[in-house]
Formats: sequence, structure tokens, C-alpha cells
Amino acid sequence: MTPPDLSTVQDLSSLDGRLRCPNCTGDLDSTGEGLRCDGCEAFYPFRRGIPLLAIHGTTETWTGDMLPETSAAYQEEYEELSEARRYNEEYRDQVTKRWSTRREFQLLDGLLSSQPRSELLLDLPCGGGRLSDRLAPFTERLVEADIAFGQLRYALEHHEGTDARIWMSASAFHIPFHDASVDGVVCCRLSHHLPTPEERERLVRELLRVAERFVIMTFFDYHSVKNYIRRARRPFNGKPPKMTMTVERVRELAEEGGARLVAAPPLSRLFSGHRYALLEKR
Ligand SMILES: C[S@@+](CC[C@H](N)C(=O)[O-])C[C@H]1O[C@@H](n2cnc3c(N)ncnc32)[C@H](O)[C@@H]1O
Ligand SMILES: [Zn+2]
Repeated sequence: MTPPDLSTVQDLSSLDGRLRCPNCTGDLDSTGEGLRCDGCEAFYPFRRGIPLLAIHGTTETWTGDMLPETSAAYQEEYEELSEARRYNEEYRDQVTKRWSTRREFQLLDGLLSSQPRSELLLDLPCGGGRLSDRLAPFTERLVEADIAFGQLRYALEHHEGTDARIWMSASAFHIPFHDASVDGVVCCRLSHHLPTPEERERLVRELLRVAERFVIMTFFDYHSVKNYIRRARRPFNGKPPKMTMTVERVRELAEEGGARLVAAPPLSRLFSGHRYALLEKR
């Protein structure tokens, strides 16, 4: 199947005044071939009609310091459609992954129904769109964003609904939206791929910055049974530690970002360390 080309159909007008340059925070104007920044004049081209707004890189892009461990390689992992396809087909075909997705749907339904319906909801990273059909009913318009073009192509190829969606490439470290310009942000299964607290905390701050009302995000709980076992076995199997956060640290980051951690249900108390956190802006 050839992935659709959005060149003539993707209408970004509903994002007028909401988008910002991921480099300098200036406003963006559409030129027909891309988006140009009013401030630094950076140009963000459309590829197959998808605006490429992702700034690649990690801590060096916001503190100037490159740390020895970064998620830079992970940002490139699904650039190719074939890699994205492999990842998404695994999620579709493996029984444990299907079970996990079902439970994630339940958690998302519960958390999203506790919020008034959104006008604009941002799904970042959307990956291949595993969760997007579940998010779409909770919003007028869903923005599907990921750093990897291959994932966006996969998501587009498999989108069958008629609901209003907008696709773009974006980094969660430099979200190309003004402060409080989307109702909510959903960020699933990214923070546990970020190797340092600097990256994980930057992620939470960015999500809270662009959300006007709420953030739903997953993290791998340091105090989970899964992580306890991992740490206990580590001296024997040498497996690297999981990239975790504590509920307490997520709560503190929420407070710093003008929000409250209202729920953090686990995906499974025994079989998974992931939690789905709901942070509500005050
Ligand atoms: C494990 S997948 C999860 C996708 C989706 N949320 C889900 O639950 O199926 C993680 C995604 O994060 C994307 N990614 C990695 N680093 C990123 C970054 N800095 N900003 C945005 N997306 C990123 C990858 O391309 C990948 O598609
Ligand atoms: Zn700019």
C-alpha cells in the first residue's frame, strides 16, 4: 500500500496562532511549501504534506551540554517506514502486547472521560497510531506528532476514520506549540526510553507548558515490583537499569508546572512497571 500524500488535503488553518517555531518560539506562517518563522526565519518544509517541525537532539539543544548518555539514537530508530512497520506489527501480533494495549485503552478511556471533551488534543509521540483511534472520540481534532517520519507514514497508511486529524513531525523536547495552546497532551511510552533525568524532566515540563488543561503521560515506576526484581537480578545478569521516575518526582514536576497529579494507575501491579499519570493544570 502506498502511504497517502497529504500535500493537497492537510489543512493547518485550525492551528493558526497556536504553532510556534521550535527553534526560537516565534510565530510560523505558511508559505504553501512549508512554514516560515517570523523570528529566526527558519524554514520547516512539508514532506508529503506533513510539516517537518522536529528538532533532533537532546540536552545539547536546550542546555548546551551533551551528556554521555542520550536518546539521540532512539530518535532515529523509526525514521524508515520498514522499521516502523516492524515495531507496529509486533504490537499487533504478540499476545502479551495485545493484552497490554487493551489495558492501556481502558486506562486512557477512564482518564480521558474524567476531562471535558477537547477541542485540540496532541498525541506525542503518536508512533504508528496504536492509540489514536481511542483518543479521537475525546476531541474535535487530534494532532498526531512523532519525531520519526517512518512512524508518521505508518500511522497515515493505517488511518481509516474520517475524524479530523493533523500530522506533523515534532520533538517532545521542543514542542512546536505556544504555551497552553492545546487542551490536552497524551504522551505514552516515551519517558522510559529517555536515559537521564534531564531528558525525562524536560519532557514533563514541555508537556505541561503546551497543555492548557491536562497531560496524560506514562512513566516506568522506580518503586514497581518489575523494577524491584530488575534491580535485585542486576548483579547476576548485568542487564542495564530501567529508565524510571518516581510518583513523587512526577508530582513535584506537576506542581512546578502549575498542575496537580490526580491519578497514576499502574498498567499492572505485577507484570508491568508502567503507570498512566493524569496531571491537571490549575
Ligand atoms: C514506544 S513508541 C510509543 C508510540 C505511541 N505513543 C504508543 O504508545 O504506541 C515511542 C515513539 O517515540 C518517538 N520518539 C523518540 N524520541 C522522541 C522525541 N524526542 N520526541 C518525539 N518523539 C520521539 C519514536 O519515534 C517512537 O515512535
Ligand atoms: Zn524561529
